[in-house]
Amino acid sequence: MTPLQSLLLLSCAGSTLAQLTPSATYSPPSASAGLTSSTSTPNAQWSNILGNSLYFYDAQRSGKLDQGAYGNRVEWRNDSALEDGSDWNLDLTGGWYDAGDYIKATFPLTFTLFAISWGALTHGHGYDLAQQTAYLDGTLRWGYDWLIKAHPSDNTLFVQVGSGDVDNAYWGGDQDIPTPRPGYPVNSSFPGTDAWSSAAAAFAIGSVLYTPSVSYNPTSSSAPPESIGNSTYAATLLSHARTLYAAANNTTPRQTYYESLGESVAAYASSNWNDDLTLAALTLALATNESSYYADAYNYYVQYKISGLQEVWNWDSAIPAIYVMFAEIATARPELATGAGLSTNLTGWQAETENYFDKILDGNFKRGYLTKGGLLYFDGDSDEASLNPAMAIAMLMFKYAPLASSSSKTESYTNFAQSQLNYLLGNNPMNVPYIVGQHPNSPQNPHSAPASGGTDIKAIRTSPPTEAYVLYGAVVGGPLSDDRFWDWRDDWAQTEVALDYNAMLPTLASMQLLNNTADPHYVSVQAGTYSIPSGQPCDAALPCEGGGGLSGGAKAGIAIGVILGVLLIVAAICYWKRKSLARTWRKGYRRPTV
Ligand SMILES: *[C@@H]1O[C@H](CO)[C@@H](O)[C@H](O)[C@H]1NC(C)=O
Ligand SMILES: *[C@@H]1O[C@H](CO)[C@@H](O)[C@H](O)[C@H]1NC(C)=O
Ligand SMILES: *[C@@H]1O[C@H](CO)[C@@H](O)[C@H](O)[C@H]1NC(C)=O
Ligand SMILES: *[C@@H]1O[C@H](CO)[C@@H](O)[C@H](O)[C@H]1NC(C)=O
Ligand SMILES: *[C@@H]1O[C@H](CO)[C@@H](O)[C@H](O)[C@H]1NC(C)=O
Ligand SMILES: *[C@@H]1O[C@H](CO)[C@@H](O)[C@H](O)[C@H]1NC(C)=O
Ligand SMILES: *[C@@H]1O[C@H](CO)[C@@H](O)[C@H](O)[C@H]1NC(C)=O
Repeated sequence: MTPLQSLLLLSCAGSTLAQLTPSATYSPPSASAGLTSSTSTPNAQWSNILGNSLYFYDAQRSGKLDQGAYGNRVEWRNDSALEDGSDWNLDLTGGWYDAGDYIKATFPLTFTLFAISWGALTHGHGYDLAQQTAYLDGTLRWGYDWLIKAHPSDNTLFVQVGSGDVDNAYWGGDQDIPTPRPGYPVNSSFPGTDAWSSAAAAFAIGSVLYTPSVSYNPTSSSAPPESIGNSTYAATLLSHARTLYAAANNTTPRQTYYESLGESVAAYASSNWNDDLTLAALTLALATNESSYYADAYNYYVQYKISGLQEVWNWDSAIPAIYVMFAEIATARPELATGAGLSTNLTGWQAETENYFDKILDGNFKRGYLTKGGLLYFDGDSDEASLNPAMAIAMLMFKYAPLASSSSKTESYTNFAQSQLNYLLGNNPMNVPYIVGQHPNSPQNPHSAPASGGTDIKAIRTSPPTEAYVLYGAVVGGPLSDDRFWDWRDDWAQTEVALDYNAMLPTLASMQLLNNTADPHYVSVQAGTYSIPSGQPCDAALPCEGGGGLSGGAKAGIAIGVILGVLLIVAAICYWKRKSLARTWRKGYRRPTV
């Protein structure tokens, strides 16, 4: 684009709307389009993946839908939850429903905004190629605009709207969502260091993305989408980032929002806040160019012993994102470290990041391994959403690969990341591309109350027999560790959808648009080659009965003796496994009744 064209584009945008309007409207093609090889450049299949991955966020919208530059694209969704915030005399309408249900959960939402914005900052030109920049803008603003409402004063941040208990008992459409839908804030008396920090990081990276002609070049090809810059919006996002970080950094005691608010917010009880605070400080450094934030980030990295950890990247853990961002900043903004009196130390950040990635590649990662079919699986973290941690690592590896210390490492990381993405897209033992509506073999039964059309919580799998609406672009939880996948609507561990499950896909698709002219794997997958496995899944959603061959009398005898012991063990495990139980609670409440 010539400078004159850019100027024209900018001035046109300025004279019309507060946000970008799509030059070509996009709506998802039917699944059968996934069988046709693309003959165009950029590859139309990758453009569709990108378009669909953003469309999913439109389907999750809450509040009045006919807002923003392009209004509501999802004809089967209705305005809903229009009283949110009324219990606090605030307007907390808008935002997104978290998963297959109707609570609004801030913590995974901020993780999602962070992941999409950070990816777009370095790989944004893929959105331009696919003509998806306006939809990216619309998606991000839908999230950030709500987050702004959820942060009505310096220390107050609403971390959830809607009660888990009330929501758990409901399975139905968006017109009968049960009330009341209380708002849950953290504030100076009830601190949430993790929630404040994660929101600060999301706002900060958003403000960098929206800074017009921002210069952030970890690699020579890094670029945000061409026309997304808006200095007013960037400044608004940054001011929220600063006050949230100040709340997180200055309020004592530092503790998680779950520690402050308890069981009502147990759906996303994070393990700790150290990683969130560190990532927030680092992202604020990037957004402000102020070395004091960099000094905080580095000090917390040292103080909280963040080096050398083997943790996934998901809503609960920022660890590997911290490594990669330090490496990016050592390359793109070396003055932040030197300004804080520290060494830039690119070599050190490369060593940190590569130590992490190489453990995965070499099969030495704590609880991490490849399934037989080739999916990166972490026992525990992958059990109820197997694709999410694998896609997060893929995004980080693609992002970091060009910064690696040797060209052979660049190649290994790129190849490994590609293998994970290919698995998602159908190169797996089930022949299933795990994106709804992308291909005839895609999941047909995502665990989503609004999309299902069902109203009978006792018959989620079978009523109605066919999902009412196609939830295009939704990444489902994913297969089990033996690569088997049951496309059952009640098996939330495998078929639920969520904001965070989709968070890596837009960036991964944008990366492919930049570099890959080949079709995504699913184009070569024959329709009709998936079938439900035999037997029972035996996962968190549908646990198998123990069931031995003992007689009734023997069972009764053993039972009495065992019960007391079990009770004790259960109590101990409950305490020890608080975190993962909370996760199970989050998505596992709709116990199947089949
Ligand atoms: C920039 O964003 C602000 C805040 O959303 C909006 O009011 C304004 O119209 C936008 N400017 C342009 C040029 O799009
Ligand atoms: C939206 O409203 C229409 C008309 O009442 C209804 O048919 C549809 O199922 C609703 N959508 C959802 C997700 O409940
Ligand atoms: C602070 O947060 C707590 C817990 O959510 C809430 O009960 C209390 O009303 C809040 N205080 C103010 C002043 O908003
Ligand atoms: C920070 O510095 C970069 C160049 O290194 C510049 O592009 C950016 O606008 C600056 N950000 C702020 C908030 O001053
Ligand atoms: C964050 O808090 C620490 C004290 O815990 C302080 O030393 C530091 O200056 C604060 N950071 C900023 C940016 O104000
Ligand atoms: C650079 O990083 C390495 C590896 O983390 C570390 O051992 C070394 O002390 C760092 N050097 C400086 C000057 O900070
Ligand atoms: C795409 O290719 C460019 C150079 O051709 C490289 O710098 C970049 O890292 C590649 N991106 C991905 C995601 O592989």
